[in-house]
Amino acid sequence: MESNNMEQKSPESKIPRGGKGAYYIETFGCQMNVRDSETAAGLLETLGYEPSQSKETADLILYNTCCVRDHAEKRVFGNIGALKEQKDENPNLIIGVFGCMMQQKEVAEKLYKRFPFVDMAFGTNLLSRLPSFVENAQSGARTLAIEEDNIQIEDDLPSIRTGKVNAFVNINYGCDNFCTYCIVPYVRGRERSREPQAVVEEVKRLVSEGYSEITLLGQNVNSYGKDLTDASFAELLSLVSGVEGLRRIRFMTSHPKDLSDGMIAAMASLPNVCHHVHLPLQSGSNEILKRMNRRYTREDYLGIVQKLRAAMDDVELTTDIIVGFPGETELDFQDTLDLVERVGFSSAFTFKYSPRKGTRAAVMEDQVPEAIKRERLGRLNALQERKARQNNEPYVGKSGIVHVEDCDTRGEPVCYGKFSNFKMVYFPGQPELVGQYVPVTITGVRKNSLIGQLEDKTHD
Ligand code: 5AD
Ligand code: SF4
Repeated sequence: MESNNMEQKSPESKIPRGGKGAYYIETFGCQMNVRDSETAAGLLETLGYEPSQSKETADLILYNTCCVRDHAEKRVFGNIGALKEQKDENPNLIIGVFGCMMQQKEVAEKLYKRFPFVDMAFGTNLLSRLPSFVENAQSGARTLAIEEDNIQIEDDLPSIRTGKVNAFVNINYGCDNFCTYCIVPYVRGRERSREPQAVVEEVKRLVSEGYSEITLLGQNVNSYGKDLTDASFAELLSLVSGVEGLRRIRFMTSHPKDLSDGMIAAMASLPNVCHHVHLPLQSGSNEILKRMNRRYTREDYLGIVQKLRAAMDDVELTTDIIVGFPGETELDFQDTLDLVERVGFSSAFTFKYSPRKGTRAAVMEDQVPEAIKRERLGRLNALQERKARQNNEPYVGKSGIVHVEDCDTRGEPVCYGKFSNFKMVYFPGQPELVGQYVPVTITGVRKNSLIGQLEDKTHD
C-alpha cells in the first residue's frame, strides 16, 4: 500500500520564515510554466514569504505568463489591469510579471509602460534573479529585465512542488525545431539538456520525499541528449526507471520526428514507464505539415502510431492540433479530420492558428479568415468528442490501477486519478485514498473520462 503523500513539501520549505508576508502566483500556459512557478515559490519562501490562500489577501502577486497564443496574452493584460484597485488600496503590494510573454522585449516594455503599478517585469531566463528584483521592489524601485541570450541552467534552485501525487522534472529546456507557427524557440532559447545524473538525483530526492509518480518535461523530450555526449531519451528512461520506489514515469511532449524505435522499446519493456504518449499532430495534411516545418508526413505519423500500438496494446495517445494555419484549404482540413478519425486519440487540445510576431507563419500569405478557423474548430471538436467516447467505451467492464490524485468531498465523496495510460477515472471513495494505487472496475463513460467502482482489495 502506498502512503498518502498529500503533505509533500520539498526540503527548501523548511527554511525559516521571516514573516515578510504572503505571496500568490498565477500561472498561465504549459507545464514548463507550472514548473517555473514552483521555483518562483521556492525562491519567495527563502525570502520569508508564505503562500497566500487568495490573490486578494496577498502582499506579493506574481503572474507567470504565456505567449503561445493570442488568447493567453489578452488575458494577462486584462488580469493585470484589474490589479490597480488592489494596489491603490494597499500601496505596499508588490506586483511582478514574468515568463514567456515577458521574454518578448516589446511586449514587456508595453506592459511596463501601461501599468506603472507593476513593480517588476522580467523574462523566463531571469527567474533565478527573482530575490534581487523583490528586494528592489521593497525599496521602492521598479525593475524591467530581459536577457535575450540563453542563460545557464540553474538546476539547484529551491522549489515548492504543487503536484499532490505527481512531480514535474525538467529534462531539457528550450527548443531548436522552429515550427513556423511557434514562438517557443524565440522565448525559451536553444535546446539544452540536463545531465542524466542530475535528473536521476532529482528523481531520487522526490521519491525520498514521498512521490512515486513523476513527469519528465521538455518541449521535445525525444531529442533529449542530442547536445550531450552519450545520452538519449531511451537511455534516460532506463536510468530513471531504475530509481527504487518509483512506480510511474510520465513524459511530455514528444515530437513525432524524433520518436525512435529505441524509445518505443524502452517504453514497452520498462515496467514503470506509463503507456501514454502526448504526440502533437498539428495537421493531417502533408502540405500543411511541410509549411509548418514539422518534418514528418501523415504516413510517418500513422507509422509511429502503429508501432506504438503493436508494442503496447493498452497505449493511449493524446495530441495537439491547429486549424486554420496559413494556406489550409478545406481539403487540407479534411486530411486532419481523416487522421483524427483513423488514430482515435484519447483526447486532443485543439487550437485556432494564432499569428505570433517574429515567426515565419505570421508573414505567410493566405492567412485563413477567423470565421473559417472557428467553423473548422467546431467540426474538429465535434469529431474528437465522438472519438473520445468511442475510445472510452471498450473500458467498460475492465479493471485497472488508479493512482488517486484527489477527492471531491463537497457531496458524496468522489475520488479521481489516472490509469497508467492517462485515462482519467472517477469513483466513489474516501479522501484517505489520495496518494494510493487502487484497483477500479469501469462501469460507465463520460465525455472525457471514465467512471468506476473501487474493487474490494487494494493493491500494493
Ligand atoms: N497558434 C495556435 N496554436 C499554437 N500552438 C503553438 N503555437 C501556436 C500558434 N501560433 C499550439 C500547438 C502546440 C501547443 C502547445 O500549442 O498545437 O503543440
Ligand atoms: Fe514549438 Fe515546434 Fe518546438 Fe513544439 S517542437 S515548442 S511546436 S517549435
